[in-house]
Amino acid sequence: MIAFKLNGKNVSSTAEDDTPLLWVIRDEFGFKGTKFGCGIGMCGACTVHIDGAAVRTCSFPLIAAANKNITTIEGLDNKHPLQQTWIEEQVPQCGYCQSGQIMQAATLLASNSSPSDQEIVDHMSGNLCRCMAYVRIQSAIKSAADVMSADVQTFDPRSSTQQS
Ligand code: FES
Ligand code: FES
Repeated sequence: MIAFKLNGKNVSSTAEDDTPLLWVIRDEFGFKGTKFGCGIGMCGACTVHIDGAAVRTCSFPLIAAANKNITTIEGLDNKHPLQQTWIEEQVPQCGYCQSGQIMQAATLLASNSSPSDQEIVDHMSGNLCRCMAYVRIQSAIKSAADVMSADVQTFDPRSSTQQS
């Protein structure tokens, strides 16, 4: 049995040790916001936070999640500025890649609240979007950074990723 924290709750799984964490999150715990895309760590659709880092769960065995703190898109709880700017700027087209995009972007803003355009491109380069929404994705990240900079007294990005 592998125990870990998922979206703030202590949970455990009896799946095989080498089961990709993606399927445990989706099928055992019902958090369907984390998507399957390529299955080989190349598209970013399955990105979650593990101890605050962006991780591709399709290529991450369950056993490696032992005692880790895992946050999925559901764990952001609609409070992260990225989720607000994503809505305001109507970023998604089909939407399939979007939870992975937001989770990846959140790790950038957690460590850099005022990223340059190039830093955004570099950080997001492994997250693919078949609908080519890249311009809106980058714009929404910029806008979220602006919100965080303006509201730095009241917003702690770490609190929205449940790293405690
Ligand atoms: S499904 Fe995991 S990186 Fe593509
Ligand atoms: S919005 Fe369709 S894959 Fe990104």
